[in-house]
Amino acid sequence: MEEVIKIKGGKLLNGTIRVSGAKNATVALIPAAVLAYGKVKIVGIPNISDVNSLKDILEYMDVKVTTPNVDEIVIDTTNMENKPLVIDAVSKLRASYYFMGALLGKYKHVVIRMPGGCNLGPRPIDLHIKGFEALGAKIEYDNGNYILTADELTGANIYLDFASVGATINILMAAVYAKGRTLIENAAREPEIIDCINLLNKMGARIRGGGTSTIVIDGVEKLDGCFHEIIPDRIEAGTYIILAAAMGEHVIIENVIPYHLDSLLSKLKEIGVNITFSFDQVEIYKTDTPYECTNVKTMPFPGYATDLQAPLTALLTQAIGNSKITETIYSERFKHCQELNKMGANIILGPASATVVGPTKLTGGNVKATDLRCGAALVVAGLIAEGTTTIHDIYHIDRGYEDIVAKLSALGADIYRENI
Ligand code: EPZ
Repeated sequence: MEEVIKIKGGKLLNGTIRVSGAKNATVALIPAAVLAYGKVKIVGIPNISDVNSLKDILEYMDVKVTTPNVDEIVIDTTNMENKPLVIDAVSKLRASYYFMGALLGKYKHVVIRMPGGCNLGPRPIDLHIKGFEALGAKIEYDNGNYILTADELTGANIYLDFASVGATINILMAAVYAKGRTLIENAAREPEIIDCINLLNKMGARIRGGGTSTIVIDGVEKLDGCFHEIIPDRIEAGTYIILAAAMGEHVIIENVIPYHLDSLLSKLKEIGVNITFSFDQVEIYKTDTPYECTNVKTMPFPGYATDLQAPLTALLTQAIGNSKITETIYSERFKHCQELNKMGANIILGPASATVVGPTKLTGGNVKATDLRCGAALVVAGLIAEGTTTIHDIYHIDRGYEDIVAKLSALGADIYRENI
C-alpha cells in the first residue's frame, strides 16, 4: 500500500489560508536549544515530519521533550547525555547536522552520521567543517560518521566562500561558548538565521549582525532557558501565494511577513498577478489577463529563493512566452520539470537552467514528488490541470507543508489522500 495525494484540477479557490511556523527555522532552533542549561519553550512549531525526527534525536540523548500543545515544544536538557548520533533519525533530514555545531559548542565532542536530506545534487558541508576547524576543532571522518573534537574553542575570523545558510547557523552555534570573538564574513542573511540568533540571544548569547553579511559572536560562559515564538514559513507562504496566483478567485494568505517575500512578490507583479499585501497578509485576486513570461535567477536571500523555484516553474507553464529559470544555488534542482512535462508542460533543460515554453495545457496524470519543493510544484500543477493528478512519494511533501490537504480543501480544492 502507498499513500498518494489526488487532485481533481480546474477548480477556482476562494478563502483564507494560514501559514504555519517556518520549517527551516524550526530545524535549527530545536538543535540550538540543547546549548541551554535550562528549559527552552518554543511556540509556533509546524506539525511536520522533520520535527518528529528531531524529537527522536533529542530523546535518544535523554533530553526531556514535552509538547503542551501541537505547536509548542519544551526542551529540558537537565539530564542530557552527549551520545554518538548514529541512529536512523539522523539520516532522515539534512538539518540534523545542526547538532554538530550545537554539541561541539556545548561538549567539545561530537560523533554524528553524515546528514541525509533532499536529492538536490551535491550538498557538501565543507564550509561547516572549515568553520569548526577555524574555531579549533579536529574533524575525522570514519565509516560514514563525523567525529569532531576540541580541547577548547577559540573565537576566529571565518570567511564563507558561499553565503551558506547551514554553515552560517552551524558555525554560530559552535561559537557561542568559544573564548573570545568570532566573525563570520559573507554570512547568509536568510530570516531563519535571524530567528536562530534571536533565540540564542534570549538564552544569553551575544550575537550581533544577524541578517547582514557579517555576524559577530562574543563567547559566553553559560546559556539559560527561554521562551521563543518561531517566524512564519516564508516558503510555505510563497508556495500558497503562487498556488493562489494559479487558481485563486480571491484568496487571502495570512501569517506572512511580506518583507520575507519581496523577490517573489515583485516577480508575480511582473507577470501580471493581481496581488496586494498588508503587514501580515497577502491577497490575490483572479485576473482575466493571461500572465506574461519572465526570467528568474535563484540567489541567497534577499534574492529569489531556490525553494520557490519549482512552484513558480509550475505557474510559468501558464504564462505567455518563454520563461528562463536559472539556478545559482542547486544546479540540478530541476527534477520537477520532467514530472511537469508528463502533465503536458513544455520545459527544456539547459546547464543549471530551464526554459518554460508557455502557455501549455496541463492534464492530470501519475507523477512523483522527487523532493519537497518538487512535490509543492506538482500540487500547483495538479490544481491547474484538467482531470485527476496522482502524486506519489508524498512523504517529501509532509516534511515541509503542515496539513496541506486540509488547508487547500478549505479553499475549495478537490484534493485528498488515498491509499492505493
Ligand atoms: C538551506 O539548506 C535550506 N534547508 C534549503 O531548503 C535551502 O534550499 C537552502 O538553505 C538555500 O536557501 C534548511 O534550512 C534545512 P546552503 P542548506 O548551505 O543550508 C553549497 C527546503 O526545500 N554549500 O545555503 O543546505 C551547497 O552545495 C530546503 O526547505 C557548499 O558548497 O543550504 C549549495 O549549492 C532544500 N558547502 C549552496 O551552498 C557547504 O559547506 C547552498 O547551500 C554548504 C553549502
